[in-house]
Amino acid sequence: MEVQDDQVLISLTGITKEFPGVKALEGVSLDIRKGEVLALVGENGAGKSTLIKILSGLYQKTSGEIRVNGEVVDIKDTKHAQELGISTIFQEPTLAPELTAVQNLYLGREIVKPGLRKMDEKTMYEETEKLYRKFFSTVEDLHVPVKELGALKNRVIEIAKAISFQASVVIMDEPTAQLADHEREVLFDFIRSLKEQGVSIIYVSHHLRELFLLADRMHVMRDGKNVATVNKSDTTIDQLVAMMVGREVSNYIVKKEVPFGEEVLRVTDLNRQGILKNINFNLRKGEIVGIAGLAGSGRTETVRAVVGADPINSGNVEVEGKSHKIRSPKDAIKAGIGLLPENRKMHGALIDLPVSQNITMAAMDRIIANKLVLKKKKESQIAEDYVQRLRIKTPTINQKVRFLSGGNQQKVILAKWLFTESKVLIFDEPTQGIDVGAKVEVYNLISEFVQNGGGVLLVSSELPELMGLCDRIYVIHKGEFVKEFSREEATEENIMMYASGGHT
Ligand SMILES: Nc1ncnc2c1ncn2[C@@H]1O[C@H](COP(=O)(O)OP(=O)(O)OP(=O)(O)O)[C@@H](O)[C@H]1O
Ligand SMILES: [Mg+2]
Repeated sequence: MEVQDDQVLISLTGITKEFPGVKALEGVSLDIRKGEVLALVGENGAGKSTLIKILSGLYQKTSGEIRVNGEVVDIKDTKHAQELGISTIFQEPTLAPELTAVQNLYLGREIVKPGLRKMDEKTMYEETEKLYRKFFSTVEDLHVPVKELGALKNRVIEIAKAISFQASVVIMDEPTAQLADHEREVLFDFIRSLKEQGVSIIYVSHHLRELFLLADRMHVMRDGKNVATVNKSDTTIDQLVAMMVGREVSNYIVKKEVPFGEEVLRVTDLNRQGILKNINFNLRKGEIVGIAGLAGSGRTETVRAVVGADPINSGNVEVEGKSHKIRSPKDAIKAGIGLLPENRKMHGALIDLPVSQNITMAAMDRIIANKLVLKKKKESQIAEDYVQRLRIKTPTINQKVRFLSGGNQQKVILAKWLFTESKVLIFDEPTQGIDVGAKVEVYNLISEFVQNGGGVLLVSSELPELMGLCDRIYVIHKGEFVKEFSREEATEENIMMYASGGHT
């Protein structure tokens, strides 16, 4: 169906948003048409989430005009946004951790039995179950606090919640981060059916292929300003990237040839009841070893077990030939193993400390002279260097990490681990949420780390990333390493066959 220009649902004109020292948005204008999927694209810190927060009533614009169905509105708060038909899945988790899925879905708008003062628990439960069943076959989860459910299920519950509002526009800020392929597909089906019902979608993602699959139009932003609005059918991925970053980027992933040294990590007979089965692997200096597998196959559980973040039933971890008792990530760091976790929001940064300290804090002894004086100047130099290389968008290195955009917070945590003197670094989805321009620099920094004698274990859902960087790849299926591929043997088909259990 051709969408007519006059079917504009929301119209933004000259939107500006200023924070102390930062102009996050400057003169952004854009129309959202009825029943379209409009993608918002731009590098980390371009202003996507800020624009969304203004539309959702979380932030107030500094100036500019918003019209909904032709009427000028001042979106006061999130409740007001919902009344205007705007429903949002935010980049950061927003569920109340102590409440169940049902309670979260109906928080503040509980269904009450007609004529009675009692809540209609049954209807609320049934409605939640209906949405939830589209993603998962089990529903016992609906009775437990969502904090017990893990990131993936929490995400799905947020999506179910946003969809349940009968909104006229659903905004999704990186909704597929942490979703498995299967759940992505379910979400995409939802998006298509919402669209058929005339609901508009604003979609933010750094997965450009995803955008080309879903979007009708794309609005490109850079440094808080409009760059262009384009029809998907009139543009290519390369053109889109060029508009986003305003410079040439190579998307060529390659690891430099590094001679392998001695073994730096050996993991033997790692077991965790019902989750991991007899995991064995090793890693040499100069080597990048990948773990490939579907979401939920035990990739994250494996690396968490190695660093003592989860309890294990058995297993031995050797670093440089020496056995270590690792019962916590602290023990792991002492043994020389650092883990950059998948869920960085919760485990990674001290968000109320400045960028500079966050980068250097894991390796304080490298910037302390005579074990006493903090070399302020050196700390600044190091921080400035990483900020520049990773293109971390921040007014100064003294800005609190809290005030950086999602992707830039991740870059800070990456920088922190790269600066440590770990012997082994484990990266779990290091480029999730990071824009195309900065990804290449992340790959370069990982390569540099092994060039300097480190070993890297890399978990990633992006097969091109794994195949481009890794010297060897282990494939995990249902908690078991089922195959090891050399760089030459690893193809997308080969990996997928083992990852999906097709070899059995
Ligand atoms: N509360 C805040 N205080 C100060 N600066 C902020 C605040 N929120 C956002 N910013 C700044 O505004 C700019 C835009 O941030 P925003 O979160 O909108 O980026 P984004 O496009 O969503 O990036 P990402 O892809 O990393 O999520 C950034 O430079 C960020 O540091
Ligand atoms: Mg964002």
